[in-house]
Parts: sequence; structure tokens; C-alpha cells
Amino acid sequence: MTAVPTKPVFLTGASGALGRVLAKWLGGLGWTLVMTDIAAFPDPLPPGASFTKADLNDGPTILRLAEGCGAIVHLGGVSVERPFEEVLGPNIRGLFHIYEAARREKARVIFASSNHSVGFHERTESLPADTQFLPDGFYGLSKAYGELMGRLYWFKHGVENVNLRIGSACPEPVNNRMLASYLSYADFSRLVVACVTAGQTGSCVVWGASKNSRMTWWRDDARAELGWEPTDSADPYAGQLAGKVSGDPVEERYMGGAFCSIGYSRSAFAPAGLFDSAKG
Ligand SMILES: NC(=O)c1ccc[n+]([C@@H]2O[C@H](COP(=O)([O-])OP(=O)(O)OC[C@H]3O[C@@H](n4cnc5c(N)ncnc54)[C@H](O)[C@@H]3O)[C@@H](O)[C@H]2O)c1
Repeated sequence: MTAVPTKPVFLTGASGALGRVLAKWLGGLGWTLVMTDIAAFPDPLPPGASFTKADLNDGPTILRLAEGCGAIVHLGGVSVERPFEEVLGPNIRGLFHIYEAARREKARVIFASSNHSVGFHERTESLPADTQFLPDGFYGLSKAYGELMGRLYWFKHGVENVNLRIGSACPEPVNNRMLASYLSYADFSRLVVACVTAGQTGSCVVWGASKNSRMTWWRDDARAELGWEPTDSADPYAGQLAGKVSGDPVEERYMGGAFCSIGYSRSAFAPAGLFDSAKG
């Protein structure tokens, strides 16, 4: 039985796909949630929860909502590749508001980072958590920035943060890539519970993928310290998804998949080894 946090948990992006999953899961554990999103919350509120519609760009409102909270589970923002100007407000300025709130409240931040912060690593690699960021677009770049913001606030202000480099969190895997990157909703929810309830976290990274046998891309993160192990797996889908590939050589070469191909304008692949010095 997991302990119920003594202080409320602030959940941003509550009306999104993962926010709705977490609202139900954490509410079911008896946690008190302070939820927000720019979009209305479409489900019945969990017992004891509140919901306030707000824009992450609105610093004073974010600071006010976070008052008294012991942890901030930050899922809100642009969650796909978009033009820079669209990413800028929610993911860059908004992230600053989240960390200022955390600093004031001495709250821990659980940040929904992404595999797209390292999307231009090749699928043949096996990356430790302290690998080089190789974002595959403005969205992935904003996630790398978010992780670095976490390091800044940890070293300068002692704000604890766990950065979840989520692979593909969805109801079920739908293509060959997700046989590696799939993260079940249940594994994701248990991971967030572990992040909030762990004794101490410092500033750390966890790769967000289930126990998929093809998950050879990512290793050496903070899961053991947090007490989390995934239990679900994409493996039962291997037969039906093995041939489900795009035919796009850029998409199939890199971990970030289709996001790597968006706006890709190189005339040819880089020669093998060209980027070696940029990789950790
Ligand atoms: N689902 C995945 O596979 C996956 C993978 C990697 C990372 N992530 C990250 O996890 C988080 C949740 O993902 P999701 O799949 O639920 O995405 P989602 O798009 O369904 O949810 C994001 C929510 O953020 C809200 N939002 C957008 N702009 C906002 C603003 N200016 N102010 C306040 N709220 C705003 C949206 O209304 C939306 O409800 C995101 O940060 C995403 O980048 C998800």
C-alpha cells in the first residue's frame, strides 16, 4: 500500500491523455490533486480534487495554484512537434513558472520529458541517462531545456526533480518502433507514484518504457533508487507489428522516429561517424 502524500499534488496538463489517466489513478489512491489545464477537464473530478482552467504562460496563476503543494507533476504544454513560436510560451516560459512555483513551495517536480530530447540518436545505440541531448525538433529541444532547468534549480536552489524521458505512452503499441518505446499507462502511473513518494531524488532521469524485450535503446537510469520497475510489455504485439514500418529511411534510422522526418532538409544522411564526437 503506497503512502498518501501529506500535501496535495499539483497536476498540469490534467485534461490531456496522460493527465486523465493520472487523475483517475492517483485519485483512486486517495491523493489530493490540484489540477489545471488550458482545456476543460472532461471527466468527473476525482474525490477531493480541484480543477482550474489556466494557461501555463500565466505565471501569477500558476504560482497561486501551486501554493501548499508538495509535488508538481508537470505534463502540460505542447506535446508534439510544432513551430518554434507555438512551443515557446507553454514549454519554455511555462516551464520557468513551474520551477519558480516549485522553488517557492519547496516542491519536487516530476517533469514529463521525452525521448525526443535524444531523438537523433540511432536505434542501434544503447544510451545511458547521462547521454548527450540530440533533440529531433523544437518540441524535443524544449524537453532538453526542461531537463536542464531541473538541473539549474537543483544545484542553485535544491529543488528536487525527476525527468521522465517518456517513450510512447498510449493504450497499446501501434507500430514496429513502439515494440521498443511503448510505455503502458499502468507502468507510467506507477512510475509517477514512485517519483512522488521516493525519499530523496536529487535531480535525476528515468527512461519511460515498459519491460519490452526490444527496449535495448536506453539504460542506466534512476529507477532502482526510486523503487520502480516496469511490469507490462509490448512483446505480445511483436507478431502483428513486426512489419509495420514507415518506409521512410530517416524515421526508421533514429530513435525519434517520425518526429525526425518533420521538416528534415538534409539532402543525404551524414556519413557514418561524423557525429561521433557529439555523442556521449
Ligand atoms: N504520450 C506520450 O507518449 C508522451 C511521450 C513523451 C512525452 N510526453 C509528454 O507527456 C506530457 C503529457 O502527454 P499527453 O500525451 O497527455 O499530451 P496531451 O497533448 O494529450 O496533453 C497535454 C496537455 O497540455 C495542455 N496544454 C497545452 N498548452 C497549454 C498551455 N499553454 N497552458 C496549459 N495547458 C496547456 C493541453 O491542453 C493538453 O491537455 C506532455 O508534456 C508530453 O510532451 C508524452
